[in-house]
Amino acid sequence: MAQLVQYIYIVSAALFILSLKWLNHPASSRRGVWSGALGMLLAVIGTIVGFPGLLGGAGIGNVHNWGWIVAAMAIGTVVGVPIAYIMPMTAVPQRTALSHACGALAAALVGTAEFYQTNALHETLPTFQLVALIIETLLGYLTFTGSLMAMGKLQEVLPQRPITYRNQNAVNFVLFVIAAGLAVRIVLVPTDTFLFPIFAGLALLFGVLLIIPIGGADMPTVIAILNAYAGLSACAMGFALGNNLLVVAGALDGSSGLILSIIMCKAMNRSFTNVLFGAFGQMQTSHAQAQQRPYRSASAEEAAAILESAGSVIVVPGYGLAVAQAQHKIRELFDNLMRRGVDVKFAIHPVAGRMPGHMNVLLAEADIPYDRLYEMDDINGDFPQCDVALVIGANDVTNPSARTDKTSPIFGMPILDVDKAHTVMVIKRSMNPGFAGIDNPLYYMDKTLMLFGDAKAFVTEILKELPARVGA
Ligand code: TAP
Repeated sequence: MAQLVQYIYIVSAALFILSLKWLNHPASSRRGVWSGALGMLLAVIGTIVGFPGLLGGAGIGNVHNWGWIVAAMAIGTVVGVPIAYIMPMTAVPQRTALSHACGALAAALVGTAEFYQTNALHETLPTFQLVALIIETLLGYLTFTGSLMAMGKLQEVLPQRPITYRNQNAVNFVLFVIAAGLAVRIVLVPTDTFLFPIFAGLALLFGVLLIIPIGGADMPTVIAILNAYAGLSACAMGFALGNNLLVVAGALDGSSGLILSIIMCKAMNRSFTNVLFGAFGQMQTSHAQAQQRPYRSASAEEAAAILESAGSVIVVPGYGLAVAQAQHKIRELFDNLMRRGVDVKFAIHPVAGRMPGHMNVLLAEADIPYDRLYEMDDINGDFPQCDVALVIGANDVTNPSARTDKTSPIFGMPILDVDKAHTVMVIKRSMNPGFAGIDNPLYYMDKTLMLFGDAKAFVTEILKELPARVGA
């Protein structure tokens, strides 16, 4: 039985690795999701049929209460399936935070149960396992409350603004030192069980204090970091329970979360410290101030005429596309223009929107062919030859001051070279800034036409104008 379980675990680990590989590309990402789910199913089956040592058990024959297991699975299914179906695409970042909170709490509770179980049996875990268990519970509890705070900020049930006070970092540091001191004491004297709830309480509090100084708009990056913590917690749980699959899966989760947050920081040209302590996105260019500079605007009819006569169009989607849920209308526009012989491509910036792959997910939902989606580095060279760059709800990722203005908060952030296209058309509702809170010089260029309106409504208007012109 034990050998069979190990084989199941190897297959499961291989599926997790393949899942990460396939998730790397939109064309294979569905396969990636299925492979991850299958890996997890095998892992659960393997654990139930034979994992020795799970909470003192010794395999399938030693599972005393199937009722608890079946009830937990039923609750998970009843809660999880509707969440997956009901949650709108724009709410995926907070849903991800909720998943991390649940995963981290599970790891922390297993660690807590294991700690009290061994004490109740008057046994002592080997020091290495005890250290792993303490790390597991510390990371698990702090990730639980940290993820809930991140979810609350994204859902706007908590204030989005950074909550700061004097000596905040010093307070956090002292709290961490006390928690670490308690952890050392618990490892040295595990029979001091009364210290454990204090230690767990401090970890929970630390999770809250760690997240409140961070602005709501930075939460997607924070969630990737919390993902890494949850993975490390699961990895530590694997060591504490002697479960190789948990070690592998936790390490994969932890490292991929870390790599993702590094990619996000790089794409925004921000450091970890700036994300965690920078209180970013606070400055706002006032509407009035932005209105003072001259810009040109155009109607849907004029925009349709320009698109119709273009040979090549590069569509640049951004966060506003997600807000407006304009992806299906954009698909219609794409089909319409392609039928007219216009070469239409989509330029995807790595941090367009509010979560990694945000634009890919939306455009995939509307079945835009994958071979029409281009990463930033692959498309930037095409802008100077392109007739029209059609920016739909994107702002910061097209801001040329990132290249030239050393005083700009986004200076150094790689951007899409939209300003190099022959004509630029920007669909957005106003002259208001985007996430970084700064004005965009692109809007005041002679070649730029502002198309004011909600992205979905404006594209619908353009579509109404286009068919009327066929054969005209
Ligand atoms: P933003 O710079 O945030 O600009 C989005 C624009 O969409 C806004 O200027 C807004 O202008 C417009 N908009 C909003 N609702 C709209 C609607 N219904 N119809 C039409 N337009 C609408 O977005 P971006 O260019 O995608 O850049 C993303 C930003 O988020 C970057 O600064 C990036 O660093 C940051 N960020 C991204 C991530 C990830 S992983 N993607 C994570 C953290 C932070 P109006 O209000 O005038 O309409």
